Order: sequence, then C-alpha cells, then structure tokens
Amino acid sequence: MPRHLAVIMDGNGRWAQGRRRPRIIGHRAGARAVNLCIDFCLDKGVEALTLFAFSSENWDRPADEVGGLMKLFTGALEREVDELDRRGVQVRFIGDRSRFTDAIRNRMAHAETRTRGNRRLVLTIAASYGGRWDIAQAARSLAEDVAAGRLDPAAIDEAALASRVALADLPAPDLFIRTGGELRISNFLLWQLAYTELWFTDLLWPDVDAATLQAALDDFARRERRFGLTSAQVGGTDEMPE
Ligand code: FPP
Repeated sequence: MPRHLAVIMDGNGRWAQGRRRPRIIGHRAGARAVNLCIDFCLDKGVEALTLFAFSSENWDRPADEVGGLMKLFTGALEREVDELDRRGVQVRFIGDRSRFTDAIRNRMAHAETRTRGNRRLVLTIAASYGGRWDIAQAARSLAEDVAAGRLDPAAIDEAALASRVALADLPAPDLFIRTGGELRISNFLLWQLAYTELWFTDLLWPDVDAATLQAALDDFARRERRFGLTSAQVGGTDEMPE
C-alpha cells in the first residue's frame, strides 16, 4: 500500500469537449472525481494525497477558464472544508500563493488552520505550483540563511534542500498517477518524485473511479522498489545465486 499518492488530474477539458460542453464543465466533473479519490484514500488507509490542481503555467490559459477554476476552488473550499475536517482530513496548499486573490488566500489559510490537528489523511492541493518554482524557493530560503550567517554553504547537501522543498515533512510519494494519456511529469513534484513509481492511464480524470485507482494500487504492489540498489539487495528473487 502506498503511504503517499501524488496525482496529475489531466483530461477535464477533453472530457467536456467530447460532450460539446465548455471546459469548465469538465473541471466541475473533475471536482467530483477529487471527492471520489479522497474517499478512496480514506477507505484504503493511504496517509497522504497530493493533487495537482493548478500549475504555475495554468495562469496563462484563457481568462474565462482561469476565472471559472478560481470560482470552482472558492466554492469547493467553502463547501468541503467542514466535511473534510469531520472525516479527519488535514488540508494543505503548496504553490505560489501571492498570485491568488486575498479572498482565496484567506480561505486557504482558514482551511489549513481549521484542519491542522487532523491525522487520518494529509490532503495537499498543489495550486499555482511548479516543481521548478518549488526548488527555486528552497534554494532562495537556503541562500537567505547563508546571507544572514545562519548557515555554512558547506552544510548545503541533499538533506538540506529536501528540508526546504514542499511536503518536506511527509514521506516522498510512493506512487504517482497521471490520467489523460500524456506520459510526462509536467513540472509537478520534480524533487520529490525521484524514486516514485509512475503509473499512467488514458482515462480522462472525470472518468476515474475506484476500480481505476485500485488498478494503480495493484500495479504498485507488483513493483520492486530498488532505490538504486540491486534486486538481491532489496530481497528480490530475480538474480542468480553466487
Ligand atoms: C487538467 O485538465 C486539470 C486542471 C488544470 C484542473 C484540475 C482541477 C480540478 C480537477 C477541479 C477541482 C479541484 C479541486 C482541488 C477542488 P485539462 O484542463 O488540462 O484537460 P485537457 O488536457 O483535456 O485539456
């Protein structure tokens, strides 16, 4: 069972276009699939779920789509936080918050404060997020400590950088799922996905159901995670004995 699942929810636009509906209808259907995915994680005992809701690059989409997505986020934050809190979900956001309106920023902060003590599932919404942005802000944070004399540059190693990127306090994602048929990471968690198992499906995000997610988990259970070691070192059986 993966402890931490990271998901690129792709295909909302195509789902709507296939029905000759505006793209925002696809995002609304995508929001329903988000609820299904949260239910699934709670049911299976997954400890952390990180969803790519809006990338740094998505700001450049047509203004009506960006506006529609912002409305959708605002509505979801208003509607869902009580229920998520009741179910023991801790809600967090990662990404460049400076680009959101005060109203959305306040709602994000409220959701985080409200659910801070919950431990059943850590739900992280990546919004205005980019993996390169994440690494750059970690580097800036280290540089600020060096400039202030709090940190020796010689002490900057992988662990130091890992402690400043998003999700630093969570186990790295074990399983990455991308729907919508594209086979790429698209500037999601670049640092954090170094040893994550990747799983792709052609299904569009709004069409995802529990059986899809279970298929990803079943596939994950069959993978051998070696973290750069040999199969024999990690207890596998596919090597000849000496
Ligand atoms: C990618 O599909 C999806 C997005 C950019 C938005 C994801 C947002 C949601 C699932 C809505 C609700 C989320 C929360 C957290 C309440 P796309 O538009 O790129 O699809 P396409 O590749 O078919 O055009």
